[in-house]
Amino acid sequence: MRKNIVAGNWKSNKTLTQALALAEEVKTLASQITTEAEIILGATSLYLLPIKKVLGEGSKVKISAQNTSAYGQGAFTGEISADQLASAEIPYVILGHSERRTLFGETDDIIQVKVKQALNAGLLPIFCCGEPFEIRQAGTQNDLVKIQVETALFGLSDEEMRKVVIAYEPVWAIGTGLTASAQQAQDMHAFIRSLIAIKFGKETAHEISILYGGSVKSSNAAEIFGMPDVDGGLIGGASLVADEFINIVKCA
Ligand code: 13P
Repeated sequence: MRKNIVAGNWKSNKTLTQALALAEEVKTLASQITTEAEIILGATSLYLLPIKKVLGEGSKVKISAQNTSAYGQGAFTGEISADQLASAEIPYVILGHSERRTLFGETDDIIQVKVKQALNAGLLPIFCCGEPFEIRQAGTQNDLVKIQVETALFGLSDEEMRKVVIAYEPVWAIGTGLTASAQQAQDMHAFIRSLIAIKFGKETAHEISILYGGSVKSSNAAEIFGMPDVDGGLIGGASLVADEFINIVKCA
């Protein structure tokens, strides 16, 4: 059975003290609710180990890095390799976020390498895809997302594919207050699942969690998460406030 997941992407927000306080608050609030959903906090890599300590052994709140290197260990100043993250027992890594694509020049080919590096190291990738506004305006969003998904994921084995979480994040909805309608999200998620089914088979496609991201709030999460192919969300701004984030978790 596929999992519902609500992952916070804190991006480059919060000082260390603030991040630890937020993690503590999320942990406390998460312990007060009953949910089957996996809860993940995606923080700055530097903060992940102290956050893990705050969350404690066996916590139901998991952590994620927001990027990894396309290279292994070696002379790559400033990079954090996938096996280094894995050695610190960080379970998840967000890859291919639109901010990495647009601000840091990550191409589909680079993301493909990172996904592979992550899986080889034993990390679980949260692979992001999604179209910019002009593409949505032109109505060619499926063509673009197809290329993103095919390039990054179609070289994987079936076993590897089942470890990947996909996050559909239309770029025009990220941090803008505009959300895709629940139907727009459902249409794209069903399309992505159909691509996975064609390549890896229906059973694998059925197992994959596909998250929606882009201005998700507690006021719109229930409707979006209620769609049959939406298995939770990747949450930016709203994940920076613990009770708002947990109210979103409750919708999954
Ligand atoms: P917002 O929820 O702030 O729109 O950000 C979405 C996002 O980029 C999550 O990765």
